[in-house]
Amino acid sequence: MYTFGLAGFPVGHSLSPWIHEQLMEQTGVEGEYQLFEITPEDFDEQIDQIKKQQLDGFNVTVPYKEKIIPYLDGIDASAEQLGAVNTVKRTSAGWIGYNTDGTGFLHSLQARFPDLFHQKINVLLLGSGGAARGIFAALMDQAEVKVDVANRTVSRAEAMIAETGGDHAARAVTIEEAEQAAGGYDLIIQTTTVGMSPNDDTSIMPLQNIKEGTVVSDIVYRPVMTNFLKEAEQKGARLHFGHEMLLQQAVYAFQIWTDLHPEAHPLLEKFERKLKGE
Ligand code: ATR
Repeated sequence: MYTFGLAGFPVGHSLSPWIHEQLMEQTGVEGEYQLFEITPEDFDEQIDQIKKQQLDGFNVTVPYKEKIIPYLDGIDASAEQLGAVNTVKRTSAGWIGYNTDGTGFLHSLQARFPDLFHQKINVLLLGSGGAARGIFAALMDQAEVKVDVANRTVSRAEAMIAETGGDHAARAVTIEEAEQAAGGYDLIIQTTTVGMSPNDDTSIMPLQNIKEGTVVSDIVYRPVMTNFLKEAEQKGARLHFGHEMLLQQAVYAFQIWTDLHPEAHPLLEKFERKLKGE
């Protein structure tokens, strides 16, 4: 019997309990996934309480991915590089923090497009927030790529590139420059909050210049089909959806906690229906 959980604020609308129930069902293990809604002023006390429970591990979400670190006994290399933890496991060496954000993204992309990284490709990464950092670091670590990072605030893109050690393979550009150069990218990854429900009708950048067959990914999963992806589809792009990443990240957390290897793929359609409220 496993017990997992999620620490964050707010957590009431989290999809993690549903996803982990599916993963438990698929792997035939029993367990539960609890929600720990922690207000910032109670963080100290609540984290101590959580650590005293019979938990095997827990996820950490906004706004505590950085704040949790001093409360842990160790963190893995990717969490260290990003300065952020989204998964914590109880081990014989204490509570260990991991970050599955970037690898979850990259692996869900590779699962969908197995040949994508077979040759060196040109990538456009839109955004420079927490989500962009994880993806950028994973790209730098695992793929042979040349990356343009475009952000409304270009200095944040420059800082992210410098901090993540990507100077050799990346440069910061404006969103307008990226739009002009869009025909040269093989992969475009949208990591900003623009287009997220309830602002469904917005989009970070027009895609009229992209070439057919470009892989266009949007990490926004509410709605499943963002405006950005709609325009990409009209231009003949191949699409990668935000909920694919979300599911793969949960699979990694589940693997870290249980050493079992569930598959994301069989759950995708069911998850999409759930997100669409069907
Ligand atoms: P997260 O951790 O979810 O990535 P974040 O750190 O707040 O969230 O980052 C949000 C990203 O969305 C940033 O790249 C932000 O651009 P800035 O760095 O210029 O703030 C981008 N973003 C949010 N609202 C935006 C808007 N209206 N137009 C353009 N970019 C926007």
